[in-house]
Amino acid sequence: MTEDSGTADAGLDAETGRELCRRAESVGLAAVDVDDAELLHGWRSDPVAAYEIGIWPRSLTAMRERIERDTEDDDRDDFLVLLPDGTPIGHIALSNQNIVNGTAQVELMLAPEYRGQGHGSAALDALVDLAFGELPFHRLAVETHTENASALAVLTKSGFVHEGVSRAACLHRGRRHDLAVLSLLRPEWEALSRPRAWDA
Ligand SMILES: CC(C)(COP(=O)(O)OP(=O)(O)OC[C@H]1O[C@@H](n2cnc3c(N)ncnc32)[C@H](O)[C@@H]1OP(=O)(O)O)[C@@H](O)C(=O)NCCC(=O)NCCS
Repeated sequence: MTEDSGTADAGLDAETGRELCRRAESVGLAAVDVDDAELLHGWRSDPVAAYEIGIWPRSLTAMRERIERDTEDDDRDDFLVLLPDGTPIGHIALSNQNIVNGTAQVELMLAPEYRGQGHGSAALDALVDLAFGELPFHRLAVETHTENASALAVLTKSGFVHEGVSRAACLHRGRRHDLAVLSLLRPEWEALSRPRAWDA
């Protein structure tokens, strides 16, 4: 889904010249472009991320093709997470968007050297504010390994509620893993007392 309103107010990032869709206090979000394929390809090749998210490293060519395809699709929006100086530090997305049901899935991955500094929470809050504050979603859901402590901590901090476990739902390194299912509903987002990304 593309957002017609609210994109212009975030403006152009001074350092990189990228058009920001969202500017929160400590990070900005900019739409992923095909020239970002190399960055995403590098991050997706990180073994920790591959293990935690269950992604399979693809060729750079396949990555480029996928971004091109995703740009045409209106069931997902992909963003780079940027520091205030324009440094790209990760990828966040609203995928599987279903406008009739008002549902979408959240994907989040930071480059290893930028983890553990609060950027994951900042990026997630900015995306959540976009999904509920500018787009008509009612439910955002995430699945992650039940052992992915950092993801569970970040999601819980952003208000996501643990709603269940998909047992033996993925296979990594020769064994089956359970996936925790978390979600955030619009009324729960409305009840959050934190400042919104647009207040930054
Ligand atoms: C999961 C991920 C996005 C988290 O982002 P991050 O920037 O590292 O996390 P933050 O620094 O914002 O941490 C937010 C909170 O979680 C807590 N936290 C982070 N890692 C934790 C861990 N391993 N155990 C317990 N708490 C943890 C932090 O202490 C912080 O809480 P606080 O503000 O109360 O101190 C990042 O680690 C990542 O990209 N991992 C690989 C890909 C992945 O697993 N994606 C998740 C798919 S849903």
